[in-house]
Amino acid sequence: MPDYQHILSETHGRVGLVRFNRPKALNALNSVLMEEMFMALEAFDRDAEIGCLVVTGSERAFAAGADITEMAEASAVDMLLRDNGARWDRLRRLKKPLIAAVSGFCLGGGCELAMGCDMIVASESARFGQPEINLGVIPGAGGTQRLTRAVGKPLAMEMILNARFLTAEEAARFGLVNRVAPVETYLEEALALAQAIAARAPLAVRLAKEAVNNAFETYLADGLADERRAFYFLFSTEDQKEGMRAFVEKRPARWTGS
Ligand code: CAA
Repeated sequence: MPDYQHILSETHGRVGLVRFNRPKALNALNSVLMEEMFMALEAFDRDAEIGCLVVTGSERAFAAGADITEMAEASAVDMLLRDNGARWDRLRRLKKPLIAAVSGFCLGGGCELAMGCDMIVASESARFGQPEINLGVIPGAGGTQRLTRAVGKPLAMEMILNARFLTAEEAARFGLVNRVAPVETYLEEALALAQAIAARAPLAVRLAKEAVNNAFETYLADGLADERRAFYFLFSTEDQKEGMRAFVEKRPARWTGS
């Protein structure tokens, strides 16, 4: 494993875990942390021994947003030339499911990162918000789009225009997170969910993720056609034969990812 400055990267069975490790800045997402996170996630994504990915922060903060000190004095031209936003596209290119295990502050770019993951497991202390309006800007990494799709327009407007934070319980009620767990166990729960997904037929998991994400990218007719093609394609895999035979023979399936 490379010697990272602001993250820790570890494996738990077939799960790759990336922990943000910049506690003094509440895991603010500076360029180094972002680059290291993507390097680690992409390495897990390429590793055939890994079936699911998890990102997490600390109990106090998943991430308090993009690093404000890095951009406070930047001009529009600086921002355009740095184009840090382009880095966020790497999140969408990950093939394996990615779960955010969120506790404490999950704000700005931190909230956008969590929403860019495929699922969110939150601790009871998690607080979700897009407070960029307090800085005289707006979300710049997908917040206006993903939050609106997740919680609906009225609440997204209130959160983005008036910096309203959601508690974990509210986030669950409004469909932003999958589940809420005690602070002591939220990471364990996220890892257990990841382990369960990592134990499933890898090719089917990969195409299922792609098909669900398509629901946000295409017209319904195109999404349905893509889904049907992926469904038919899976009948060319060993895992489909094994999965259906195992059902008929009343035994657990043995997945090979082939
Ligand atoms: N960038 C850089 N440093 C940050 C930071 C951020 N986003 N958030 C917190 N920190 C730093 C603080 O400056 C402080 O550092 P020092 O100890 O060196 O002073 C340290 O983390 C601890 O923070 P606080 O003392 O402020 O802790 P608190 O408990 O009083 O408040 C907080 C916590 C409410 C999260 C507060 O820190 C805060 O409001 N942070 C900024 C949140 C924010 O605006 N995020 C959006 C960023 S812009 C963005 O993300 C753009 C985008 O869409 C990509």
